[in-house]
Amino acid sequence: MVTTLHWYGHATIGIFTSGYRLLVDPFFRGNAATTEDPEKLQADYILVTHGHADHVGDTVSIARRTGATVISNAEISTWASKQGLKTHGQHLGGGFTYPFGYLKMTFALHGSALPDGSYGGNPGGFLLTTLDQRKIYLAGDTGLFGDMRLIGDEGIDLAVLPIGDNYTMGPDDALLAVQLLRPQAVIPIHFNTFPVIQQDATSWAEKVASQTSTRVILLKPGEETSL
Ligand code: NI
Ligand code: MN
Repeated sequence: MVTTLHWYGHATIGIFTSGYRLLVDPFFRGNAATTEDPEKLQADYILVTHGHADHVGDTVSIARRTGATVISNAEISTWASKQGLKTHGQHLGGGFTYPFGYLKMTFALHGSALPDGSYGGNPGGFLLTTLDQRKIYLAGDTGLFGDMRLIGDEGIDLAVLPIGDNYTMGPDDALLAVQLLRPQAVIPIHFNTFPVIQQDATSWAEKVASQTSTRVILLKPGEETSL
């Protein structure tokens, strides 16, 4: 079974696994990194890591049109269900078996207020175990935290980490994160979208290659990789 991960730019990701289409943090309108038209996208599930506008993004309009189920923390799920969307609320440390695999919400060191000022609960990340037992860790927006070592103990095939600095881990802390997580492969995201998060992903990739045994997959927005 092949799982494909598509990077739309910033923190917006599509995961195609076992015939299911997952969209993570679907930020398209206002996202300088992508020209993708969100009205043309299909989704079965939309995963939202936290309430910030560059992550909730176009969740409401895409979910309304496609009927996708929004998966997020309880607070964001309740906010989305009040807008008539199908939702499934989870919370940090809790996992649930969906038709596409087992999805656990993980801790993130960040904020989560929603664009309209509503309380968005705590920010998170997701650890997806696909039906063929591949593990993808989506850190979400986060600073470095030591319990990434515990997440790494699960045996991560692919980690998706922010490296932009300012709002999240920068390159140096993201390198430490790779050392704690020990994934087979890592994809850097959440950089170069805005002036304050400009980073040289190529030089980060060289450091990861020389200091860890993790393979770096450098995608450009609009590119994808399979695992
Ligand atoms: Ni954020
Ligand atoms: Mn963000």
